[in-house]
Amino acid sequence: MCGIVGYIGEKDAFPIIIKGLQRLEYRGYDSAGVALQQDNDELTVYKKKGKVQDLLDFVGDADTSGSSGIGHTRWATHGPPNDVNAHPHTARLGRLSIIHNGIIENYEALRKSLEASGHAFVSDTDTEVLIHLIEEVQNRTDSTICEAIQIALREVEGAYAIVVMDASMPNLLVAARKSSPLVIGVGAENEYFVASDATPIVEYTQNVIYLDDEEVAVMHREEGLIIRNLDNVKITPEVHELELQIEAIEKGGFDHFMLKEIFEQPNSIHDSFRGRMSIQRNEIKLSGIDQHWKRWEGAQRILIIACGTSWHAGLVAEYLFEDFARIPVEVEYASEFRYRNPIIRSDDVVIAISQSGETADTLAAIRLAKEQGAHVFGICNVVGSSIARETDSGAYTHAGPEIGVASTKAFTAQLTVLTLIAMHVGQRNGNLSSKRFSRLLVELNSIPEKVEQLLKQDAKIKEIAVKFQHNENALYLGRGVNFPVALEGALKLKEISYIHAEGYPSAEMKHGPIALIDEEMPVFFVATADDVYEKVVSNVQEVKARGGRLVALVTSGNSDLKSLAEFVIEIPKCDQALAPLLTTIPLQLLSYHIAVLRECNVDQPRNLAKSVTVE
Ligand code: AGP
Repeated sequence: MCGIVGYIGEKDAFPIIIKGLQRLEYRGYDSAGVALQQDNDELTVYKKKGKVQDLLDFVGDADTSGSSGIGHTRWATHGPPNDVNAHPHTARLGRLSIIHNGIIENYEALRKSLEASGHAFVSDTDTEVLIHLIEEVQNRTDSTICEAIQIALREVEGAYAIVVMDASMPNLLVAARKSSPLVIGVGAENEYFVASDATPIVEYTQNVIYLDDEEVAVMHREEGLIIRNLDNVKITPEVHELELQIEAIEKGGFDHFMLKEIFEQPNSIHDSFRGRMSIQRNEIKLSGIDQHWKRWEGAQRILIIACGTSWHAGLVAEYLFEDFARIPVEVEYASEFRYRNPIIRSDDVVIAISQSGETADTLAAIRLAKEQGAHVFGICNVVGSSIARETDSGAYTHAGPEIGVASTKAFTAQLTVLTLIAMHVGQRNGNLSSKRFSRLLVELNSIPEKVEQLLKQDAKIKEIAVKFQHNENALYLGRGVNFPVALEGALKLKEISYIHAEGYPSAEMKHGPIALIDEEMPVFFVATADDVYEKVVSNVQEVKARGGRLVALVTSGNSDLKSLAEFVIEIPKCDQALAPLLTTIPLQLLSYHIAVLRECNVDQPRNLAKSVTVE
């Protein structure tokens, strides 16, 4: 959950590193720091609690020269956010320096052993232990910095993405990873960039190398790039050409990344089905499914594992797979699944959903499922991410970088891909009629335009937000595929406006939560036309009778609830199975505007980070 950046080449390192850290702040922003190799053959470290701007204020006019360096923006895991625990950490009296994203699980034992060998520590972090371990290995074995890192990492348990500098080797940086993401950018002649993802790199080079687990890369100013594994076996790297453009990660004129990403959804939904479905040929093509069709055809159960918003997408998919493909589905929180000794069968198909592709709990659950012989299919948004690389097959959501911590376009992209998969499997196993398949194709193809229509209601939704900005509680209710939408709407409001909100199946209200209803309780009903609409209307009346303040999302043209609800938001007509792609949009906008009115930090909410790469 931290962001790391490194540079070595002919340019000034400091501005490149700082700009890179600013692009990675969505990964964590508890503290920031840099280490620079300066001409005096020394490493200079500047680090400070707070955001990158706080670091810049701290550095002021200090000497930031140097053409190689490393930088880090932190999301605290071991030790509170403060100056001392900020990265980079050093050893050998400041001549060794490291930045790290991940968790060293055996750091306490290593620290005790190192203290017994005379090492003194100043921070609470696992990272400082790692750089002292590297120093200790160098002392014991008179090895090069690269060899010492290889030996040290063989003693380490846990996850890491590290970049190390050695003042006595000013012409190189050493990077290594296991279970945490790391990308190397190949610049001009012997110029290298290294970062947690491609966003700090893309404005300098489109050529990147995704380091694999337990690989160590030496980026040398004169000798070029050499990659070896921990057993010192040389690896031939594969250079990928990025399709990311720098403007894709700018705000594009919106006040916040989150709003930009909400408004990108007509395109991101289209990009998620582009090239995968054809109305003319009445077909869906998903190579990740077709190349493993035997596993899907024989699946007795589909397990969906995910966290947060991605878990909500999985809940929608449960309805779709059971409706279209008639395959039993179980949706699991990855964090629960991985520890409850679950029953996993070799004829299970597991779908892992993750925007970042780095969520530690989801990654661990995937590994458990693979150990037990299940076929694991990944749905990720980040190309080359750990989950994308560890699953047996998969499909990218192609939503583009999602910088806002609150997931929006990734959610609807996940729903789009899951819909395609459920339709494709249902058609291939004969449980989805060709008539309904064809109709759904046309309906899915019309969703981007309907989202555009919904986004035109932004001003109206902003007015509604004004009315509810001071409430401290909220209820979101829906049934069927709109029940997960209620959960997702509540999560959005919680995580960016800090209002306590809960999502419930509408019918559950009478089993307790209806006791919460009074004139202070806003209740957002997702009440679009479907097989259970009449039941939802009854639920609306139950809440109204008890004085609740109602906002209803209804299918356009329906006036049933106008007399009961304070506000009605009209949703374009669509097949009921596809409703979540539309009903979630107004709820995203509502939470965004309420958060802005409450002057919350919409893109970087307190306590959160975009990618939860620790347990
Ligand atoms: C969603 O708005 C949250 N930021 C969070 O719940 C997120 O969905 C969750 O951490 C899972 O992340 P992933 O999709 O990258 O695995």
